[in-house]
Amino acid sequence: MKTTDCKILNLPKIADGRGNLSIIEEYKQIPFKICRSYWIYDVPGGCERGGHAYKKNTEFIVALSGSFDVVVNDGTNEQTFHLNRSYMGLLVPQGLWRVMNNFSTNSLALILSDTEYDAGDYIMDYEDYRKWNNQR
Ligand code: TYD
Repeated sequence: MKTTDCKILNLPKIADGRGNLSIIEEYKQIPFKICRSYWIYDVPGGCERGGHAYKKNTEFIVALSGSFDVVVNDGTNEQTFHLNRSYMGLLVPQGLWRVMNNFSTNSLALILSDTEYDAGDYIMDYEDYRKWNNQR
């Protein structure tokens, strides 16, 4: 996988005088079956999340509130996506190094994943990631 395989996907936004409503359904707005949802919040200023790769896990990340950056790296190229809308998200395919940083106050990151949590799916060291990537 390459950083260019990451895609911003737009979600429906149903707006009326009472506010907005957006939707994520598996195999509709996102191209996978949702196995797991988790969210990241109350991130202290200046802190980073992630800083690892998943060998198998694909994910879709939405800034439900506030904003943050998702930095993806494929061992050669790096790309930063700034997420700040709750009606769009970033699809991050398996096999990419990714970091989340630049969290705004009160930001809320929703992550939908296509696998169960598995500590063995993580590559925690960037050089190990590059070696793993080169051997694929
Ligand atoms: P981690 O994935 O390292 O968080 P981040 O990538 O945002 O820095 O997870 C932090 C901790 O939470 C770690 O102890 C594993 C645990 N965890 C689960 O138990 N289940 C999960 O689905 C996730 C994502 C993490």
